[in-house]
Amino acid sequence: MISKVKKITILSLFPKMVEDALSHSIIKRATDANLVNIEVVNFRDFSNNKHHNVDDVAYGGGPGMVLTCQPIVDAIRKFKTENSLVIILNPSGEPYIQAKAIELANNEKDLILICGHYEGFDERIFEYVDLEISLGDFVLTGGEIAALAITDSLVRLIPGVIKKASFEEESFMNGLLDHPSYTKPRDFEGHLVPETLFSGNHKKIAEWRHEAAYEKTLKKRPDLILKKTKGGN
Ligand SMILES: C[S@@+](CC[C@H](N)C(=O)[O-])C[C@H]1O[C@@H](n2cnc3c(N)ncnc32)[C@H](O)[C@@H]1O
Repeated sequence: MISKVKKITILSLFPKMVEDALSHSIIKRATDANLVNIEVVNFRDFSNNKHHNVDDVAYGGGPGMVLTCQPIVDAIRKFKTENSLVIILNPSGEPYIQAKAIELANNEKDLILICGHYEGFDERIFEYVDLEISLGDFVLTGGEIAALAITDSLVRLIPGVIKKASFEEESFMNGLLDHPSYTKPRDFEGHLVPETLFSGNHKKIAEWRHEAAYEKTLKKRPDLILKKTKGGN
């Protein structure tokens, strides 16, 4: 049970991009209600270079600019406490999955998320972080979208942000995809809502949903069923 407000500090060269995305809907309501405290910091402000540079050419040559150690390491030092988990966003990191979102939401650690840009980080920056996370096997222009995806996915799991029942049966929560959902009309261009959902029998509906979730997972993501059978998440 979380007893303190989780703090998420996002270090980015494009803070407005992050702030804008966080100023809507459920995440905004969660921050307004002080269920989470999110701070977005431009690590350029930590550059001790007189032009506030944060990048330089790569030793050995090559295209693109590399983020230098000093501004990022100084920003980490400023915000890190003994209760922080410092996470760097990078394609070479551990792939992000729902189980990690649950873990990050349910522990008492504050998070520092570091967004790279350009050609990426000077390799020595990895010495100063606790965890490296990737959003998936593709390359983004910067870590902002990854930081936003992580923030969004874990904030909605913080107690009080949305109803527990809303996410308990969601995709990946029990090793399956979510069950199919339907709303009005009952008949859309000949596509009918399954009869069981009108039965009023909650037990039968729950059984139908579980079965439908299983069938859907088997069809769309058989790898999840295999993992579940082997006892994974
Ligand atoms: C253009 S990328 C650098 C890619 C790097 N040269 C490589 O090939 O691995 C710039 C920044 O975007 C972020 N980024 C790109 N792809 C990402 C991913 N799949 N997951 C998390 N962050 C990513 C990282 O912060 C990275 O430093």
